[in-house]
Amino acid sequence: MTRATIDFDPFSEQHFNDPYGTYRRLRDEAPVYYSEKYNFYALSRHADVAAAFKDFETYSSAYGVTLEEIQSGQHSHNKSIIWMDPPEHRRMRSLVNKVFTPRAIQAQEEVIRDRITHYLSKADPANFDVVADFSALFPVEVITIMLGVPEADRQNVRLWLETSLERPPGRMTQSRAGNEAMMKTGALYYNIIQERRVEPQDDMISRLCAVEVEREDGTRTSLDDVEIAGFCTLLGGAGAETVAKLLGIATVVFSKHRDQWEQLRADRSKIPAAVEELLRYEGPVQYDCRYVTKDVELHGTTIPQGAAIMLLGAAANRDERAFTDAEIFDINRDRAQAQNLAFGYGIHSCLGAALARLESVIALDYLLDFMPDYEVDVANVKRTTLTSVNGYARVPVRVRQG
Ligand code: HEM
Repeated sequence: MTRATIDFDPFSEQHFNDPYGTYRRLRDEAPVYYSEKYNFYALSRHADVAAAFKDFETYSSAYGVTLEEIQSGQHSHNKSIIWMDPPEHRRMRSLVNKVFTPRAIQAQEEVIRDRITHYLSKADPANFDVVADFSALFPVEVITIMLGVPEADRQNVRLWLETSLERPPGRMTQSRAGNEAMMKTGALYYNIIQERRVEPQDDMISRLCAVEVEREDGTRTSLDDVEIAGFCTLLGGAGAETVAKLLGIATVVFSKHRDQWEQLRADRSKIPAAVEELLRYEGPVQYDCRYVTKDVELHGTTIPQGAAIMLLGAAANRDERAFTDAEIFDINRDRAQAQNLAFGYGIHSCLGAALARLESVIALDYLLDFMPDYEVDVANVKRTTLTSVNGYARVPVRVRQG
């Protein structure tokens, strides 16, 4: 058992501020880490995390994908795709692939540009917060427009989500306010579903009402209200939180790597590669958890059946065993070296990856014009303290006029 004296606490201030030094120690000294405080195991080396993501039989999602979900033992029966193992997952994924098609995503380009222009045209370069005035606002609009949420509730989806994910340092579980926020989100989708069942429109909720899924007994039925609401909650949540965080992170990272910001300004064709490197270097999703279905022997340690295990994708993405100079940010790096785990890997790999990439690439292109030369107001930067996702709530910048 590698019980090194590393204090890895994913609910601590230190983790939210900068987990990467601890990740290095975990990879080097405790590749199978055990947290006595929270009773979970953690994998941090690229090869181990990638293998665990692929091995869904040993590392099950059916008990939840956060520590809280797994340890509470109250894994939801209102099943969402992210909490499913095959064969259920396979059936649901092939079904949602039908509504979340590459074409449906490409068709969002206009909406993305429209929402980005809307917020940037209102922004004041002399007093601009990249997250609060921009990146927190537009991604939730894109996904809720796709879903069919009325305008008045689009930003609520984001605000309720933030309340539900908020973890003041030291707290693992959801607050009462967080719970209530989830109920409001569920009620919002439930009401829209009822309306669309009567009067379908050209949106994703209407299409989800129309599709059929093959059930375990071989019969085919349409999705029920709870299944659709669960999927919408997941999409709305993932769509609202992640790209918002990535762009805040991008602003801070590029402020420390000005030469690479200059390279992007000079050659916009490098933006997609820059997005991939941001995801690798400091992707917003730090980890996904799994339930261990049978004893596993790894690096001389037995991870017991029934344990909760954290797959630290963000640590694996900085593993020098997989990437040359892994701790260095380099938009020109050879990306074929190893799998980038920022979007997960294997059967649960991110369904929204293409949308996230499209939004991020377009947004960076606009930011390069809006703030070609900027300085982060470091004293007023504010980190978020959420479960699973790291990033910033505020990244104020001073745009230098050339
Ligand atoms: C930078 C942006 C994003 C990152 C870093 C990210 C990351 C991830 C990761 C790591 C997973 C795997 C979870 C697991 O294995 O347990 C995942 C799954 C998922 N993501 Fe994303 N995501 C992003 C954006 C989005 C967006 C924009 C959407 C949709 C609008 C989305 C929808 C989903 C869904 C539905 C799943 C579950 C897929 C399944 O269980 O089969 N994500 N994402």
